[in-house]
Amino acid sequence: MRLENKVALITGGASGMGASMARIFAKEGAAVVIADMLDGEGQKLAAEIGQANGTAMFQHLDVSSESEWQAAIAATLAAYGKLDILVNDAGISGSAVDDLFETAAWERIMSVNSTGTFLGMKFAIPEMQKAGGGSIVNISSISGVTGQRGIHVAYNASKGAIRTLSKAAAVQHGRDNIRVNSVHPGLMPPMRTSGRTADPVVRAKMLAGVPLRRDGRVEEVANAALFLASDEASYITGVELYVDGGFLAV
Ligand SMILES: NC(=O)c1ccc[n+]([C@@H]2O[C@H](COP(=O)([O-])OP(=O)(O)OC[C@H]3O[C@@H](n4cnc5c(N)ncnc54)[C@H](O)[C@@H]3O)[C@@H](O)[C@H]2O)c1
Repeated sequence: MRLENKVALITGGASGMGASMARIFAKEGAAVVIADMLDGEGQKLAAEIGQANGTAMFQHLDVSSESEWQAAIAATLAAYGKLDILVNDAGISGSAVDDLFETAAWERIMSVNSTGTFLGMKFAIPEMQKAGGGSIVNISSISGVTGQRGIHVAYNASKGAIRTLSKAAAVQHGRDNIRVNSVHPGLMPPMRTSGRTADPVVRAKMLAGVPLRRDGRVEEVANAALFLASDEASYITGVELYVDGGFLAV
């Protein structure tokens, strides 16, 4: 198994791509902490993984809260004794707000997508240093590389911050044997918080720009995260992996 004896905390692990990662990581032998604000869904998924002979627990976490991060890391250590892998997947979309320069939306989106990722690394890295290394996978987006119409500017800015934050941490913590990479999904099933980008007409237009001519499946992103999280990627740090059907190659 590709993640045998590893402990992985996945934010946003109760839904979408994060839930797919939780299932796949557990199947590959990791003990998984599903960290999310969706208590019901998260608990249900942890139970499902347990029934399939995997190891998982749910931990309530609002990624924008420093004290909740401290509690989540403490709960991980109490349950499984260490932390090897952190996936910062939790995020909210920018396509449900009309005013694309609304200040409240800027603050909300930055606090979850960017600050949430920053705090996760802030509290996970000291535990990885103690354990002798680790792997951090930060879920950015094609929106972190390019601009788009119809999406609040904070979404692109927050995902762009994840991209360079990942490289900064990779440079600073290579000497600790901590690898940090970002994954950039393209057109995927809509997020729970998606607005305009969930509209089939809008999606059809977006699909026209995807060389593979289809949207992605959650497990296609989860498998990319699995590779970067695993020791198979032991010499890979500071990279951005596009899982976008070729969107950014055009
Ligand atoms: N769906 C897409 O098209 C797409 C494309 C590129 C990137 N992404 C990114 O992929 C990641 C996963 O998205 P998804 O498509 O699975 O969406 P999703 O809405 O299904 O999952 C997002 C998860 O994050 C959780 N979350 C939101 N705010 C949180 C907070 N403050 N604290 C803790 N958890 C919180 C939600 O409860 C949910 O479980 C996000 O970071 C998203 O920005 C999505």
